[in-house]
Amino acid sequence: MYVTTTVEETRQLIKGWKKEGKTVGLVPTMGFLHEGHASLIRRCRQENDIVVVSDFVNPTQFGPNEDLEAYPRDFKRDSDLCESLGTDVIFHPEPKDMYCDPHAYVSIDTLSETLCGKTRPIHFKGVCTVVSKLFNIVAPDRAYFGQKDAQQLAIIRKMVQDLNFDIEIVGCPIIREEDGLAKSSRNTYLNPEERKAALCLSKAVKAGQEMISTGMEAEEVLAKMRAIIGAEPLARIDYVSMVDALTMQPVDKVEKDVLTAMAVYIGKTRLIDNFIYEV
Ligand code: PAJ
Repeated sequence: MYVTTTVEETRQLIKGWKKEGKTVGLVPTMGFLHEGHASLIRRCRQENDIVVVSDFVNPTQFGPNEDLEAYPRDFKRDSDLCESLGTDVIFHPEPKDMYCDPHAYVSIDTLSETLCGKTRPIHFKGVCTVVSKLFNIVAPDRAYFGQKDAQQLAIIRKMVQDLNFDIEIVGCPIIREEDGLAKSSRNTYLNPEERKAALCLSKAVKAGQEMISTGMEAEEVLAKMRAIIGAEPLARIDYVSMVDALTMQPVDKVEKDVLTAMAVYIGKTRLIDNFIYEV
């Protein structure tokens, strides 16, 4: 496995493989890898000749009062895991290798303004910018993203379509802990009491899925999901909403593909979870 830190060496390696006609898959990550990331890497390994994982805590997607400094990092552990999963290249740049000041941004309106975009106004602009850069550096045939970040996945799909990136976007299912909590690098922030409290998200997801499948009205489903979370003293709801899974715009009826998504603070830690109901 190659470990690269600069754009140039990454490009040169991949260009060589592409000349030999090899297909390239990319898994963008911010590191501190867990089973959720591993599921994307495994899928990428199955479907491509070359597997590239990027491991970069992207500063432009963090707001001024967010957890950029505190974000967990363990590159040794990440690179060992990547190697064990058959990764060919792990791209691990420093911010100075990726950004100059000032620099260009890529952004998408409308889809970025609902759900997480309300509380994190610059977040998706940073995500679109870094993912566009990674797409241009790696020029993958396919790129792998988790349904865990449903709004991010929808935004990347729209960006790829709008900007004519010749890349197939592969969405992968949410990987959970045994007790239901969606795996996340941010779960490490939770103390034991908060870790227990965090189960209210997956409980609400499960209840929401069951209620929708019985034909219950959207507002009633959302109210009951909010009540489940509200019963947990350590939880504070940012949002629990239903939106169209492609446009990210609110819906008031459960009709076709509807995304039910939530962000909830457990203590100071903001966690997200979601499910899509495909009618
Ligand atoms: P990060 O949070 O490290 O996640 C990297 C990828 O792993 C994303 O596509 C995310 O949806 C996926 N993922 C995380 N937890 C998952 C889980 N429990 N099950 C399935 N997939 C999961 O998302 C980012 O990094 C960044 O925004 C990035 C796209 C790398 C741009 O900086």
